[in-house]
Amino acid sequence: MVENRRQRLIAVSNRVPPKASFENQGKGEAAAGGLVTAVRAAMEQSGGLWFGWSGRSTRRRVSAGHTITDFGQIQLATMDLSDDEVSLFYLGYANRTLWPLLHSFPTRVVIRRDTYRAYRRINRRFAETLYPLLQPNDLIWVQDFHLFHLGYELRQLGWQGRLGFFLHVPVPSADVFSILPWAQNTLEALLQYDLVGLHTDRYLRNLVDSLDVELGGEFHVEDGGNYYTYDGHTAQLGVFPIGIDPDAFNPRAHTDTPSLADELMLADMPDRKLILGVDRLDYTKGIPHRLRIFERMLERHPNLGSEVLYVQISSPSRTRVPEYIHEKEQVERLVGQINGRFSQTGWVPIRYLYRSYAQSELANFYHDTDVCLVTPLRDGMNLVAKEFVAAQGEKSPGVLVLSRFTGAAEAMRDAVIVNPYDIEGTAEATYRALRMPVAERRRRNRSLTAVVKRDSSQNWSDSFCAALRRTSIR
Ligand code: F6P
Repeated sequence: MVENRRQRLIAVSNRVPPKASFENQGKGEAAAGGLVTAVRAAMEQSGGLWFGWSGRSTRRRVSAGHTITDFGQIQLATMDLSDDEVSLFYLGYANRTLWPLLHSFPTRVVIRRDTYRAYRRINRRFAETLYPLLQPNDLIWVQDFHLFHLGYELRQLGWQGRLGFFLHVPVPSADVFSILPWAQNTLEALLQYDLVGLHTDRYLRNLVDSLDVELGGEFHVEDGGNYYTYDGHTAQLGVFPIGIDPDAFNPRAHTDTPSLADELMLADMPDRKLILGVDRLDYTKGIPHRLRIFERMLERHPNLGSEVLYVQISSPSRTRVPEYIHEKEQVERLVGQINGRFSQTGWVPIRYLYRSYAQSELANFYHDTDVCLVTPLRDGMNLVAKEFVAAQGEKSPGVLVLSRFTGAAEAMRDAVIVNPYDIEGTAEATYRALRMPVAERRRRNRSLTAVVKRDSSQNWSDSFCAALRRTSIR
């Protein structure tokens, strides 16, 4: 281990930004998901080392080894995985076991011992590859469910410095979490971190419940902080709602990128109302439910006729996982059915775009939108909700329709809050949102903008790192 007195931030995540995105300063790059965007903002501010999977896989077995590239004050260190490792660790345990479990889809959870063993092996290899790069004073911040055991493995190697962990997804109720045969072991590993961060109070309460059920340690609150003590050591638990950089979505900053009307060639429909959905194509986002909600609204309000257009942008995600292949087929079938049923000459109700857009383009699309439907069945936070609000402006803001099952709904109380399982109720709420008077839209948008500015990505990383620095060293 190299000695150095300066405190460096070390971010560790499975997914890191592609090198090309540093080379062209993110211009033209499609949004890479909430984790990468928010961690990147933190790294750009403080500098440091970012360690993760290169995104590449090789046919042969891979031994511990890494590549480091300097991008100004950020050093990007990556390691490769083999094809087998990607399929067992990432596609298997991360995406078919932990993902549905943590998002409360118990019937989709796949339990396999070989994928769990691969997950443990890869967490160990992350630790063994990272450890020689560390300096004693470093602040290590591990991201997300792919790396629950990384802290434990680093401790096994002798790391005594500060270790933080942030979970970007929800924490389910203790009943759901206990489906995992390795629940106890996973929670023991989690408590090896000095600070565990979550998006919301609800997730924190669920985590404490699971810790009580699985481990039976002791929870206590001291000086406003939450602590859990088990087997002789104590971890701090905290709530740090992730956010965005609101300025990046100010459409005035993106006058050179196309509007949604340009992109869809809508010049001949000047009075149309636009409904927008933007998601990774993931079953947690509830896109089929949303399509049925739109269909129900057209059934109940035939007077809407060609006045309204629903644009659904679905970015490709985890395309080799069977559940995602099935979801894509289901969404495409439904879009076809609804368009077939309602289209009239010169009007097709749904435009479906299976692709990603750059942040600057999305900012313009949000700005042009009348109603943004953010209706996941479960979502850790959901940054589309925040991006949409940041892109509105004061004159004639659009309306955010937000699922109560997102982390974002905990603070964004002035959105139109809906239950997406209730197709009828959400269809009516969407109709009312389309008809909402401008004074009410402005009032709601002012209050939501204040939340988005307060809970920014900057505030998220600053407050987490400050809390981690305050934890006592072992
Ligand atoms: O934890 C959720 C998350 O990491 C998001 O930040 C991101 O949108 C998504 O998952 C990306 O998933 P993947 O890395 O599997 O493409």
